[in-house]
Amino acid sequence: MPHVITGACIDIKDGACVKCCPVDCIYEGARTLYIHPDECIDCGICVSACPTQAIYEDLRLPPEKAHFAAINRDFFAAGVSGLGSPGGAADAGPVACDHPGIALEQPRLAG
Ligand code: F3S
Repeated sequence: MPHVITGACIDIKDGACVKCCPVDCIYEGARTLYIHPDECIDCGICVSACPTQAIYEDLRLPPEKAHFAAINRDFFAAGVSGLGSPGGAADAGPVACDHPGIALEQPRLAG
């Protein structure tokens, strides 16, 4: 099953996951990154690379983070980023928008 980026990435965007992904399936939005569910090969390398523990296998998402599976998937839809399935984040480049669900997440507290 694909992996999913959750709220611990918002406004952090460390980028270590992008550097280690062997299939370039992690795309950059304005405040967070998103894993393409159809391009992810489920290797799991990104999980240990992320310093904020933002990434989960979709079937192992904690209940309070389960909505991020839809957020990652729907980011690519026509009504959101419109990226579809471009087959590589490097060529697609960063997108200046986010899934609307990101704005509903609690802002990260300093400290
Ligand atoms: Fe975000 Fe972690 Fe990747 S903070 S950019 S999911 S390494």
